[in-house]
Amino acid sequence: MLGIIGGSGLSQLANLELPRRQVARTPYGEPSGPLTLGSMDGQQVVFLARHGYGHSIAPHEVNYRANLWALRAAKVDAVISVASVGGIRRELGPGAIVIPHQIVDYTWGRAATYFEGAGTQVTHIDFTHPYSANLRARLLAAARAAGEAAVDGAVYAATQGPRLETAAEINRLERDGADLVGMTGMPEAALARELGLDYAAIAVVANYAAGRGESEREIPLERIATVLEEAMARVRRIIDQLVRQ
Ligand code: HPA
Repeated sequence: MLGIIGGSGLSQLANLELPRRQVARTPYGEPSGPLTLGSMDGQQVVFLARHGYGHSIAPHEVNYRANLWALRAAKVDAVISVASVGGIRRELGPGAIVIPHQIVDYTWGRAATYFEGAGTQVTHIDFTHPYSANLRARLLAAARAAGEAAVDGAVYAATQGPRLETAAEINRLERDGADLVGMTGMPEAALARELGLDYAAIAVVANYAAGRGESEREIPLERIATVLEEAMARVRRIIDQLVRQ
């Protein structure tokens, strides 16, 4: 079953038929909110709002372990993460939809593994390719079928937030090879891998990253909501197609 984690700008899936909410408890505490179970085109899907339904949980406060655990307990085996990002590369401007293929992790102090604690065997997962190739291909095919442009491949830099970056930090991320910057991609992707879940992301560029394009002097925060609203309508069309495939 497909699970969808919605980020900023996507706190519900309006087209879920017969939605019902299910409160989930996990050994890692509470997820960001109840799961919403429903069907799209006859297929069961599960939706979870990463920042809570009232958008009150900051990126560094999200209980990523509980979120993924709850999805797996609900029989999800493939997770699509929808996440808003800042665009570093010039061609990744506001409104661009990108299916990243790599991650550089700059987050710190987050609960980032299930393999810790007394009595737990030391376990190292392979994370060479952090996103599922199969799920990425399905997303790109769904975007094509929906007639929506989606960029194939980008390096996602995961920063701690909640503040945005300095222009010098963005320069450093670019030197490190990053094309996009966001605050929620990690440890989410690694935890999904630890649980054996297929995982891929739809990154929606909300703004040029600090010091780039129209964010040269400052990031125009007041414009982000409008950009995301328009782009999330396209993301919904892609997800509709994905479920239909
Ligand atoms: N930086 C980090 N995270 C983000 C940004 C950004 O510029 N825009 C949306 N999420």
